[in-house]
Amino acid sequence: MQNVSAIPSKFTLPTIFVILGITGDLVRKKILKALYDLYLKKNLPSKFRVYGFSRRDYDDQQLREYLKSVMEKGQFAEPEKYDAFLEAFYYVGGDFLSPDAYHDLASKLGLVDGEWRICSNKLFYLAVPPHAYSDIITNLHSSGLTKPCSPEEGWTRVILEKPFGTDRKTAIDLDKQLGELFKEEQIYRVDHYLAKETVKNILVFRFSNSFLTPAWNKNYIEKIEVRLLERAAVTKRGDFYDKVGALRDVGQNHMLQLLGLFLMDPPTSLDPDEIKKKRSDALSSLQIMSKQEVIQQTERGQYQGYREVKGVSPDSETETYFRIKAFSNKKEFEGVPIFLESGKAQGCELIEVVVTFRESPFCLYSVPGIQKNTLHYHLKPQEKISMNFLAKKPGFTYEVKEHSLGFNYREAYTEEDFVDDYEALLYDIIRGDQTLFVSTEEIMSEWEFIEPIVHTWHHTGKPELMFYPKGTYIGEKK
Ligand code: BG6
Repeated sequence: MQNVSAIPSKFTLPTIFVILGITGDLVRKKILKALYDLYLKKNLPSKFRVYGFSRRDYDDQQLREYLKSVMEKGQFAEPEKYDAFLEAFYYVGGDFLSPDAYHDLASKLGLVDGEWRICSNKLFYLAVPPHAYSDIITNLHSSGLTKPCSPEEGWTRVILEKPFGTDRKTAIDLDKQLGELFKEEQIYRVDHYLAKETVKNILVFRFSNSFLTPAWNKNYIEKIEVRLLERAAVTKRGDFYDKVGALRDVGQNHMLQLLGLFLMDPPTSLDPDEIKKKRSDALSSLQIMSKQEVIQQTERGQYQGYREVKGVSPDSETETYFRIKAFSNKKEFEGVPIFLESGKAQGCELIEVVVTFRESPFCLYSVPGIQKNTLHYHLKPQEKISMNFLAKKPGFTYEVKEHSLGFNYREAYTEEDFVDDYEALLYDIIRGDQTLFVSTEEIMSEWEFIEPIVHTWHHTGKPELMFYPKGTYIGEKK
């Protein structure tokens, strides 16, 4: 991968980070901590300012006090540094829908550039509900805020969070609007899974270990399973969740991105465009299901009690669990079933990709049920890679036992070595590396695969919704 110690000179250029939705959930839960960690590690440009934008009636000082309370509550490290860090924060109040507020922001940013005597780099982070994207993008653009001063000086970048649309059409509309106003290299679409340490490692693991290469095809691989099971139920986000359901909440994005990394061909270079292209080719190879296939190859469930959650319709048909059997059209994986399974309110917390290898035709010591080698790529609860294999039990007989070879990330490295997902994302946005961001082609392929499934579920009511008690894994019953 790229040598991160070789920070390009642009990195040191003065940078203004505009966060639209500074008082929202995303800043409270992720962005503030990520910025603070970058600050502590001296990974922010030496001239760096944050302009927080929201509707609240705050001034700069009140914003800092609010953010300080978030830091205190979250027990961020080194409390004696909170104030110095927060000095970089300023506030602009206003309605996202009102063009005036953007002119106010533009004149404030102009003053900073004047003070610094340079055209600074500008990042616009849309930490807002997706329904506000369209107005914000239009307003940002028409206020002139997103125009770089000149081709050589000061870049501007716009950062959006998933979901990118609620179906293919809305994704195309959003993309069209973005494409008219910004160049592709200005747009950063965040799927935070791509920035998880274990997920970043998939490329390294797959393409630096030669023993995997000859085995990575249908001759050796029997099936691939991607699982994202969460103990947590839907609590505070009923209103949002009920409109999307599990498949669009985590399937269309995080799980398919993971799968793409397991199916993709080796990139010919580490160029971000090349890596995104290979991921996108893998995603576009997924077979689009017919109505009949959706009915036969998918399952959906809802945990009991979901309909009582605030914001959820009392007769909601929204799935909180799904399992899909899919196939890829890539000739290397022809006929290899791919299972995608996810659920809320499950009996365990488990995020993993499991690759099961076919039984060896020459297996002299076959033991029913355990004779297959499996590669477990775990993201949660532990970050580890393990491989099941068979070995002889000591003794006079040739009794075969299953054992495991393993690598545990947290045991192999110290806490300080790890970079949090949002910290990694912000670091790359500042550096201008798009490897960890999702391309528009990937998003379109994801929707192409997902849409017929959602459509069939909604229009035929099939397969029927299964109801499961909270805290159970319905997969076990099958
Ligand atoms: C989010 C989903 O995108 O990802 C949540 O909206 C889900 O429902 C979360 O819980 C999972 O992410 P992580 O990083 O906690 O595994």
